[in-house]
Amino acid sequence: MDYKKYIASKIKAEGLSEEEVASAIALPPNSDMGDYALPCFKFAKVMRKSPALIAQDIANSFPADDVIERAEAVNGYVNFTINKGALAREVIDEVLASGDKYGSSTEGAGKTICIDYSSVNIAKPFHIGHLSTTAIGGALYKIFNFLGYKAVGINHLGDYGTQFGKLICAYKHWGNREEVQAGGIHAINDLYVRFNSEATEEMEQEAREYFRLIESGDKEANELFDWFKDLTLEYVKGIYKKLNVTFDSYAGERFYTDKMGPVIEELRQKGLLKESNGAQIVDLEPYGMPPCLILRSDGASLYATRDLAAAIYRKKTYDFYKCLYVVAYQQNLHFKQFFKVLELMGKEWAKDLVHVAYGMVSLEDGAMSTRKGKVVWLEDVIARCEEKAYAIISEKNPELENKEDVAEKVGVGAVIFGALYNNKIKDIVFSYDKVLSFEGETSVYVQYTCARANSVLEKGGVPSEYVVADLLPEEAEVVKAIAAFPQAVKDAAEKYEPSVVARFAVDLAQKFNKFYFDCKILIAEGDKKNFRLALTAAALTALKNALTLLGIGVPDKM
Ligand code: ARG
Repeated sequence: MDYKKYIASKIKAEGLSEEEVASAIALPPNSDMGDYALPCFKFAKVMRKSPALIAQDIANSFPADDVIERAEAVNGYVNFTINKGALAREVIDEVLASGDKYGSSTEGAGKTICIDYSSVNIAKPFHIGHLSTTAIGGALYKIFNFLGYKAVGINHLGDYGTQFGKLICAYKHWGNREEVQAGGIHAINDLYVRFNSEATEEMEQEAREYFRLIESGDKEANELFDWFKDLTLEYVKGIYKKLNVTFDSYAGERFYTDKMGPVIEELRQKGLLKESNGAQIVDLEPYGMPPCLILRSDGASLYATRDLAAAIYRKKTYDFYKCLYVVAYQQNLHFKQFFKVLELMGKEWAKDLVHVAYGMVSLEDGAMSTRKGKVVWLEDVIARCEEKAYAIISEKNPELENKEDVAEKVGVGAVIFGALYNNKIKDIVFSYDKVLSFEGETSVYVQYTCARANSVLEKGGVPSEYVVADLLPEEAEVVKAIAAFPQAVKDAAEKYEPSVVARFAVDLAQKFNKFYFDCKILIAEGDKKNFRLALTAAALTALKNALTLLGIGVPDKM
């Protein structure tokens, strides 16, 4: 039930609409003060009364019932206390009936959301810098689907540019087929790195020629390019599988080669294209931005040109409600620029394009830069987390079966959660010890809590009937935490912030553990035991649903 709406519907205050009241209602910082609070300060002006008096009047005239037990005025706030028994009944019933659908909705039905994420570069390392976009984008994809939207995952591959001429040239000089086939992305990346440090002027010249050959459809050059692309994709798809992320389209930059012409023509017709030192630009000075470069003086297109074509193509193909770009904040200007160009072209849907920016990830020892030799491959970070997880688990529970499987879920979960737990715009320093701590605000902690709940249910069973009597505070806290899940999912979608779901999971896990230690589920008797088992089952379901939305697996035992 939507308590805010319910409370608002029962408040009759002159000059205030129900919506206004509902949107002002907040969660108090601690639950001794009640479960919901209405601050009355901003009503003082319209109502021509002091906040304290407004609060007093609202509290006095509030009709308490078996949903809201009490309304009390304190220092300009009205604090509302909900009937925990009624809430427990409602929430537990709902969770147990809906299972892995708990928290889902159909609010997005009929709406398509394109999510451009991960978007790796062919023949370049899939490094730790791609972790956030992959984890955040992957989670948003699942979250929007869970809310009834149709999410379209798009990997806007970086597969266009002169670097592929260089790669072919390097391969021709130094490569051999078997080695590259066997070494895959690592081998091609080595060739590319070597080109950048050793290429002669002559080779640079050759590389430009190879690039031209790719562009003009030359068979051999394109076969080589396709091969490099296949090797890269095969590699990244292995990592996507591990991270539980999926894509519906791998249409990369090259896909837009023949789609840029019409866009450039349209820009010209609309009088937006200007010449500047031989290049074609869209002037954005009136909007306080540097010009958006459309064609270089040699006629070559740019990253932005392809993004313009891609946005138009996506609108035509998917008729999206929103199109998200999960890309680091370093590209803020790029997105602002090409969104603006689309707006100037008269595309009213330009307002539906959203740059979901996130901060940088670095490792504790400072390694992350993409400078030569210092790249940290995501693959290695995942492997190291799995290894460490394996060691920790073996020590904690030597008897455990399927240790590899558990270590994979824990290790991969730690990598994802490490990238998701904080507000996405913050830079993060990735620490192996921190993300794998059983005591911290981590996925391992949540997974361990699930295993604990699971073990309780294995011993006690999930009751088919249960009675709700007076709740202890620890029980009530768990109930309230579970009840917050549907809203957390909605907030995560609305703010494009999966961390809301991650924080929900940690919060519920903490409250569940307090309940577990203080309330002794299995030792309780009769109705109390049944109730606690039902509550445990509901908490487990909510925790699992949350982790699943983030792409994190949940081991039964740990
Ligand atoms: N490949 C780009 C990079 O690694 C990211 C592409 C993001 N998507 C886009 N439509 N521009 O920086």
